[in-house]
Amino acid sequence: MSGSSVCLPTISEIRAALDEARGRGRRVGMVPTMGALHEGHLSLIRAARVEDQVVVVSIFVNPTQFGPSEDLAKYPRDLARDCRLAGDAGADLVFNPSVSEMYAEDHATWVEVEGLTDGLCGRTRPGHFRGVCTVVAKLFAICQPDRAYFGEKDAQQLAVIKRMVRDLNMRVEIVPCSTIREPDGLAVSSRNVRLKPAQREQAPALYRALTAAQAAVAAGETDVAAIDSLIRTVLAQAPLGEVDYVEVVRADDLKPVTTMAGECLIALAVSFGDVRLIDNLRVKA
Ligand code: PAJ
Repeated sequence: MSGSSVCLPTISEIRAALDEARGRGRRVGMVPTMGALHEGHLSLIRAARVEDQVVVVSIFVNPTQFGPSEDLAKYPRDLARDCRLAGDAGADLVFNPSVSEMYAEDHATWVEVEGLTDGLCGRTRPGHFRGVCTVVAKLFAICQPDRAYFGEKDAQQLAVIKRMVRDLNMRVEIVPCSTIREPDGLAVSSRNVRLKPAQREQAPALYRALTAAQAAVAAGETDVAAIDSLIRTVLAQAPLGEVDYVEVVRADDLKPVTTMAGECLIALAVSFGDVRLIDNLRVKA
């Protein structure tokens, strides 16, 4: 299937286009991204296409969510390709602002979600979720979507955005979308292309470790220490990877648990050289 999307780089243009659509009674679905679109992003756009009458995809590599030693400069950018892929997946509009369009030189307002951002990725990426929440709040203020789509692959991001929307009474429904994987289980990510062949070969260990843990829970294991050691045993099959964290947390508030009970999230982060991969599975004890 192929469609065409209109790329609009300014806030006034995207607002005008969306105001016009809303004026005709159309519901707006939004998919925030940083570009380098892949099957994971496209699945979100396709989900929006099914539910909403106007689909807007934002493409903005948000500098405020990158730490000083992170890969902002290396982040892949190809707007022409992204616009084509977004259009083919069903996007009507692409909002691709510049950094100066999004952030005034004296920008001074930040959105911080406390607690939920302390553990998991928040521990090793201080300030990351403050940048994510601030830019997503701005994107929502600019586009005023009825619904916005986020991937479960970034489970902490999803939980944090949901909390921000609830706490700040934002009028948008957050729609979670399941993780898209390569045939060998590796979660699709724009970072995967930066893995060296030997690292790429070992990277599916993340998903293998998660599914082993899931199977153990299904068989009745509730001791998180045992699950943790099972996961680390499987991850040891990927010696090129360095484990950043393995955590089992409650699915709703991301609080660590020592005994599995109810809906939990098993989440992990592993670095292969300077490529940091994350993955997670929801399990029910
Ligand atoms: P980005 O990494 O480009 O991801 C955009 C959206 O795609 C996120 O909701 C993410 O969870 C989802 N996604 C990525 N890989 C996926 C996969 N394999 N399966 C399903 N969904 C997947 O996340 C961000 O951008 C930024 O932090 C953003 C929210 C845009 C704010 O800058």
